[in-house]
Amino acid sequence: MSAPQNDAVVIEEHPISEDADLGSIAMVTINRPDKLNALNAEVMSGIKAMVEWVELTPHVRVVIITGAQPNDPPEGKRAKPNAFVAGADITEFVGKKSDDIRVMFTDNAVEALWNLSKPTIAMVDGFALGGGCEVACSCDIRIASTRSRFGTPEVNLGLIPGYGATQRLARLVGYGKTMEMIFTGEAVKAEEAHRIGLANKICDADELLETTMAMARIIGSKSSNTLGVGKATVRAALDAGLTEGVAIEAEAFASLFDSKDKEIGVQAFINRATPEWQHE
Ligand code: COA
Repeated sequence: MSAPQNDAVVIEEHPISEDADLGSIAMVTINRPDKLNALNAEVMSGIKAMVEWVELTPHVRVVIITGAQPNDPPEGKRAKPNAFVAGADITEFVGKKSDDIRVMFTDNAVEALWNLSKPTIAMVDGFALGGGCEVACSCDIRIASTRSRFGTPEVNLGLIPGYGATQRLARLVGYGKTMEMIFTGEAVKAEEAHRIGLANKICDADELLETTMAMARIIGSKSSNTLGVGKATVRAALDAGLTEGVAIEAEAFASLFDSKDKEIGVQAFINRATPEWQHE
């Protein structure tokens, strides 16, 4: 099955290593640089199609999601700024009422991305505002350039976040910082995003691709079965209480002892060999 095509969401596959058997990293680029990669209906349907394709494509082991770089400006015009995503497309809000928005925002592409069973990394270079911050928060890991800014400016539109920041941002950075961001609408610079745990890593813009790919390659070299169980189990910490979560972990940990990859990994350690995962 080939990657879905949509001008607003471009998908490229990169091998995890020279060894083609090791599978691939899907580099997913939200591609509306003239509108700072704002999330319109085409982007959202492209993300949903991408998630379906990744779930059905076993050789895709890791997803990196990013925003397209700015185009060269026309003669005499200033360049548009770098952006991961500058939010939901505000022009699509004009004249909309609650019934329209419930349809658009229920079962949306950001939830689909969050529910993807495979590891996801947001590679952020520039503005990650509103829905952009929320797309980043719906990934497992965020790696950002030092010129990035994260924020929830919806308050300036008379709104609150609608793609999960009240929940996922709060779980990442805590109650007080989330309230500050939602109340003031002011963006957080990359250094602060790193300090408060919103960005896992920050680096210069010219090192961002390699830094992100390096982490994706490390993750992609592991057993995808193990990664999936790990992701699902840590998610339990978000929904369950601690005691229930520890019980879920105990069951997940035990279940991996019936997997082929556990035996492969343990034998490889004992024999000082490189494990050849079967991803089962
Ligand atoms: N929705 C739709 N279009 C958007 C957008 C959004 N969320 N964010 C930026 N754009 C468009 C602008 O309208 C502009 O289009 P144009 O060149 O055709 O007029 C283009 O992207 C470039 O943005 P511009 O505002 O000119 O860049 P800037 O450098 O002056 O400012 C921002 C950058 C990010 C500060 C500013 O674009 C902004 O505040 N965007 C909205 C952020 C927001 O509120 N997000 C939450 C939405 S719920």
